[in-house]
Amino acid sequence: MIRVGFIGAGGMGTTHLESLKVLSKEFPVEVTAIADETSERRTAASVIWPEAKMYGDGDALLSNGDYDLIYIATPSFLHSHFAIAAMRKKCDVFCEKPVCLTEEECAELERTAAECKVRFMVGQVVRSTPEYVYLKKLIDEKPYGNLRDIVMQRISGNVKWGWEDWFHDAKRSGTVVLDLSIHDLDYLRYVLGEPDTARPVHVARFDSGMINHIISHLTFSGIPATCEAVWHISGKEKFRAQFRADFDHATVDFNGGAEPSVTVYTDDGQVLVPEMPSDDRVVANGMNINSLGAYYLEDRYFIKSLLENTPNTIAPLEEGIRSVRLGIQILEQAEKL
Ligand SMILES: NC(=O)c1ccc[n+]([C@@H]2O[C@H](COP(=O)([O-])OP(=O)(O)OC[C@H]3O[C@@H](n4cnc5c(N)ncnc54)[C@H](O)[C@@H]3O)[C@@H](O)[C@H]2O)c1
Repeated sequence: MIRVGFIGAGGMGTTHLESLKVLSKEFPVEVTAIADETSERRTAASVIWPEAKMYGDGDALLSNGDYDLIYIATPSFLHSHFAIAAMRKKCDVFCEKPVCLTEEECAELERTAAECKVRFMVGQVVRSTPEYVYLKKLIDEKPYGNLRDIVMQRISGNVKWGWEDWFHDAKRSGTVVLDLSIHDLDYLRYVLGEPDTARPVHVARFDSGMINHIISHLTFSGIPATCEAVWHISGKEKFRAQFRADFDHATVDFNGGAEPSVTVYTDDGQVLVPEMPSDDRVVANGMNINSLGAYYLEDRYFIKSLLENTPNTIAPLEEGIRSVRLGIQILEQAEKL
């Protein structure tokens, strides 16, 4: 039985708690303890996992009880603190993205991982999202030739649900760059390797001065890529992710807010709609992304890899760290614009 200690039962935490509940019907996995600072979040979490022991803080959870796996879904500035403590306790770790926010934290995570040798997955969920898995296959197997150009977007309303409004504090969230753009930056690294160049070209800020909109240009062995991420002004605007990828013989268009989500336009005039696995399970988590689908897929992959003792090749710690470093590089340039 994998005994899970779960830290941070807010918006994203609720999604993973629900997902682990579904997985517990298929695999020997059980959430035995949950920590959250907010009593309403603890109450809601206890509806999903009634037997779990409840704590008001992640440190209290870690110092009481034995766990095989620690899940971390706290605000981002707390990730490295809890990940390091969990690794020192010799627990495997699942940590939401971004795995940390600063170079010092990257280095400390690397040192601890080298000492403790636990298994670690970063919640870079795009790597497990069917439309992006499909795009990776096209890039690797080249049925439409080589990738020539790609534009990726994450468009979100303002993020208003966070504990103590942490999203609007650059030191706690890393701004829209490390919180939102990191998804596409990480995905581009995953499918194309390290960029030759990476620079922000469009930066806008909230009244507070914090960056809320970024467009970056990158090149990967000469292939141009553009990434846009924005938290717009209204909290009501629905979240959508999009990409357009031009290959030698087709354009692949993805719009997460459309049905069908992916359309392929080939150079000989065909319009194709590839089938994507659909999952209409929805979670009441208070966020603007409430589908279980890709989160369930990444949780399932990690739990299976732990039980079968197979390597995590999708999103290991070192990959999460490299993507944070790329995000920091872009954020530091953006702050000067
Ligand atoms: N992968 C994705 O698509 C995705 C989407 C949204 C958020 N996230 C990430 O998930 C993480 C959480 O985001 P969220 O939207 O759920 O935020 P949230 O504010 O809704 O939830 C954070 C929770 O952590 C709790 N918390 C704060 N300090 C704590 C402590 N010391 N011990 C225990 N609990 C504590 C808060 O009470 C809150 O319930 C962030 O890192 C965010 O970047 C990922």
